[in-house]
Amino acid sequence: MHQKHMSRVFMQGFIFLVIASLASGSGSKASAKRNILVGDSEGWRAGTNYTRWAIKNSPFRLNDTLVFKFPPRGNSTIVPSVYLLPNMWSYMTCEFRGAKLLGNAVQGVGEGLKIELNQLKPYYFASNEGNAYDCIAGLTKFIAVPSTRSF
Ligand SMILES: *[C@@H]1O[C@H](CO)[C@@H](O)[C@H](O)[C@H]1NC(C)=O
Ligand SMILES: *[C@@H]1O[C@H](CO)[C@@H](O)[C@H](O)[C@H]1NC(C)=O
Ligand SMILES: *[C@@H]1O[C@H](CO)[C@@H](O)[C@H](O)[C@H]1NC(C)=O
Repeated sequence: MHQKHMSRVFMQGFIFLVIASLASGSGSKASAKRNILVGDSEGWRAGTNYTRWAIKNSPFRLNDTLVFKFPPRGNSTIVPSVYLLPNMWSYMTCEFRGAKLLGNAVQGVGEGLKIELNQLKPYYFASNEGNAYDCIAGLTKFIAVPSTRSF
């Protein structure tokens, strides 16, 4: 990938992480666990920008559960998958070697795929359908940074 383009996407990711951690600055003790539907009523779809959704829902809390609901089958819509990428570099470059498959195209249908954010670390989520086409385009991916504080 192009050098200049790479540094630009890195900067975007970095800025996002800074915003996410600043947003987690204040508040009182964490309370009940939450189930958060990724993408709200739209669910987890191919070709969709989740950055705004992730910023709006940040910071996530430790032990929040993210629910990835895939669109129903029987349509020509490309069905996404859910991968956890190991670090910012693999997230930005869409390098899925070393990524962990959390749910394939079938597992998120119906009740949805539930992922608990039970570690204090950034979670890099992305779909790898269509040879990572969406990921490379900056779509159907987001970073969730859980915090111990509530807000
Ligand atoms: C998260 O879950 C772990 C294990 O279930 C628990 O020990 C911890 O207190 C929880 N933390 C928060 C902030 O809810
Ligand atoms: C697929 O989705 C499109 C757009 O929502 C809809 O217009 C179409 O009728 C659907 N096709 C099937 C076979 O469900
Ligand atoms: C996705 O949305 C964010 C926030 O609105 C924006 O900064 C970014 O450029 C968008 N990315 C793409 C690939 O459209």
